[in-house]
Formats: sequence, C-alpha cells, structure tokens
Amino acid sequence: MTQDELKQAVARAAIDYVVDGEIIGVGTGSTANFFIDELGLIKHRIQGAVASSEATAARLAGHGIPVFDLNEVERIAVYIDGADEITHAGAMIKGGGAALTREKIVASVSGQFVCIADGSKLVDTLGKFALPVEVLPMARNAVLRQLAALGGQPKVRTKPGSDEAFVTDNGGNIIDVAGLAIADPVALETQINQIVGVVAVGLFAARGANVCLLGTADGVRTLK
Ligand code: A5P
Repeated sequence: MTQDELKQAVARAAIDYVVDGEIIGVGTGSTANFFIDELGLIKHRIQGAVASSEATAARLAGHGIPVFDLNEVERIAVYIDGADEITHAGAMIKGGGAALTREKIVASVSGQFVCIADGSKLVDTLGKFALPVEVLPMARNAVLRQLAALGGQPKVRTKPGSDEAFVTDNGGNIIDVAGLAIADPVALETQINQIVGVVAVGLFAARGANVCLLGTADGVRTLK
C-alpha cells in the first residue's frame, strides 16, 4: 500500500468517531485532507466543523460543510487530525504544516482527540522530526536563543524558495528545533510554554491523543 492509501484508510476509519448531530474539530495536513473528503460524504449527519487552519476551512467549505468560528461554538465532540510523530502513549509532535496553534486550541476544547496517521509516524521517542514552535515575530531571535539553550538546533522556518521568515495564519513565525530526544514530553512542553514570545509549541503531550488510528500494511491499528 502506498502512504496515501494508508492515510486514506485511517481517514475512512475515523468516520466511526464522528458524532451525529455535532460539530467536529478538523485538523490540517495531507491526512486531515483525506478525512475532510470522507466527511464530505456524510456531511448531512453533522452540524458542521471548526477548522484548524485557513486551508482546512477552504477544503471543508468546498465540500459544502458549514464552517463555524470557534467563538460561536459551545462544545466540540471530537477533534480529528494527523501528526508528525506519535508515541504509544499518545504524545505527539505536530506543526509540520504550520497550523499547530489553531490545532492546539481546537483540540483543547474537544471531548476526544482522534489522531490519524500512517504507521511511519509511530515512534518510541519524540524528536527525530524537528519540533515546531510558533513565536511572535518581534521575539523570533530572542526565543531562538532560549531554544538553543535547551540543547537542540533551532532554525527559523522560511517561505519556500526565499530567505524570508514563513508567516502563519496567525501572523506568527515558526522555529523548528532539530536534534532533540524528548524523554519527558510533558516537561518540555511546559518549559517551552514558559518562554515569553512563544505562542504555542508543537508538543501535544499534556493533552495528547485519546485514540490513534494507525495505517499499516495489515490494516488500521487502533491505539488507545
Ligand atoms: C499541521 O500543522 C500538522 O500538525 C499536521 O497535522 C501534521 O504535520 C501531519 O501532517 P500530514 O498528515 O500531512 O503528515
């Protein structure tokens, strides 16, 4: 099976976690895109969705799924999203697609986090994938120095084909920290959250996934 077929299989399996009559939180990225396409097929069963990025909002709208502003919504039954890395305990690195802050906000108000990923994302220790951190632009270099002191190699993410800093949907910048072996994800998430100028860190550990649907050659594995 190709990686896309694995992503499609977990996206389809995630439909079982959609709660009828409710508003669904929807993540960002290639796996989330497969999920949005599946959600489009059963859109009559839900009220609508809250999106974790402008790209996701546009794709949802393209399927005719009502997109709600989070401020209009009292509860989200379930949040469904991909990950860049996930452990057996459900701790994740996210933000490869730069949407980590809105992903974290929507996940934080959702009843359940269902992670959908191809099997290559499962790791014993987080950190091989560079850890994304969203920062306010004026604090970019100050935060970069503090992240370097944690032992990794931080680098400001740039726009494709340019030396200019990449700008997120929120007007922030992203620092990717390579070379971390994250033994205690909750402790590192807490520590990075304390750095002034950090908007959000792409470690989802204090609030990780409740369920992970993992695409493998033998079928979809469910980790709880
Ligand atoms: C977006 O910012 C990320 O958190 C994505 O959820 C993550 O990068 C997974 O993306 P893919 O499904 O494209 O691998």
